Amino acid sequence: MALDLAFVRSQFPALADGFAYMDNAGGSVVLRNVAERVGDYLLTTSVQTGASYAHSQRATARLAEARARIALMLNAGRPEEIVLGPSTTVLCQNLARAMLSRLKPGDEIIVTDFDHESNIGPWRWLERFGIVIREWKIGRDDVEIDLAALDALLGERTRLVAVTHASNILGTINPVAEIARRVHAVGAEIIVDAVAYAPHRVVDVTGWDVDYYVFSFYKTYGPHFAVMYGKYDKLVELDTLYHYFYERDKVPAKLEPGNTNYELAWGSAGIVDYLDALGGRTGDRAAIVRAFDDIAAQEVALADRLLGFLGSRNDIRIVGRPDAGIDRRVPTVSFKVEGANSADLVHKVDREQIGIRHGDFHSRRLVEALGLADEGGVMRASLVHYNTLEEVDRLIAALERALAGR
Ligand SMILES: Cc1ncc(COP(=O)(O)O)c(C=O)c1O
Repeated sequence: MALDLAFVRSQFPALADGFAYMDNAGGSVVLRNVAERVGDYLLTTSVQTGASYAHSQRATARLAEARARIALMLNAGRPEEIVLGPSTTVLCQNLARAMLSRLKPGDEIIVTDFDHESNIGPWRWLERFGIVIREWKIGRDDVEIDLAALDALLGERTRLVAVTHASNILGTINPVAEIARRVHAVGAEIIVDAVAYAPHRVVDVTGWDVDYYVFSFYKTYGPHFAVMYGKYDKLVELDTLYHYFYERDKVPAKLEPGNTNYELAWGSAGIVDYLDALGGRTGDRAAIVRAFDDIAAQEVALADRLLGFLGSRNDIRIVGRPDAGIDRRVPTVSFKVEGANSADLVHKVDREQIGIRHGDFHSRRLVEALGLADEGGVMRASLVHYNTLEEVDRLIAALERALAGR
């Protein structure tokens, strides 16, 4: 089935203004039903959960339903495996704190130099407790990850590997199931940052056998809010971040100190309703899978057009894979124009009612490792399924004008 683009775009009120939103890896625009659900929650059920009176019971039921819907989206085994929080950064920091009593000096954690800092910094912070940090580096020439290099870092002291599912700069989709297999073979755990992946392809935490998996809803058509999946048995083992009486099996509450944001939880579940509508309204996992099949097909067409243009210019370097293969990359497309300042070019594109961006996007280690930090960093056009081929053509024409005027 092809994506019904008219239906898709009608679900995002912000798209009606004609502006071409191509900074989606920074933040997508929001679904109407998500915003309506947040408003409805605040206006009708904004009371404390857990009491016996009717309104509180309704609020409790809504929160439970939201968790179950989000669990379906991730293919988690049970709603208790869904930990909610304000952002991916905070959820990673919380997880690091909650692991403290399990870690011993000399234990090793592998981080990458190609992740967003949110999935590096919290783990490096553990160095002050005697944890040894090892770095899995991106290939400097081919800009690809090397599984043999990971194997060389894994050992009997490895406790955790922190890796991104898709880089927010390169767009490359990393083989998380294969990485998880290698990590588990040495008895370690894996935490995957899926912020730059989840808006584009179906998530399947059970199928991939990952231990922890985190992403932010504000890049996935929802509000500024985030989710971390954790295997139930692993969550039980973590330290409580809440009051002392939130013991071992008070999962996920012990990892959501101070009450989670109910209205944003209820609102975020609206993303799942949207996916269900795209997938034929069967209310099950199959609908979500179908939705992402159509989303992926649209995104490949968009990326193909943009990458084709960028690849045709010998003054432009694509930072990432040059082809749009469905399993190979998401349509987050970074590039550098030879001899030009990325900021200058982006400012020219701004004037044409097109939102792209430049910099290091908090993946500073990657941009520095590739020697691309100077002159405004890289330029990035990050597309999602609601973008159109016409918008991509507008961007191409705007870039051509900006390049001609250098
Ligand atoms: C890949 C990736 N990981 C993590 C983050 C941080 O997300 P949050 O703002 O929810 O902490 C971002 C935000 O840009 C990102 O792109």
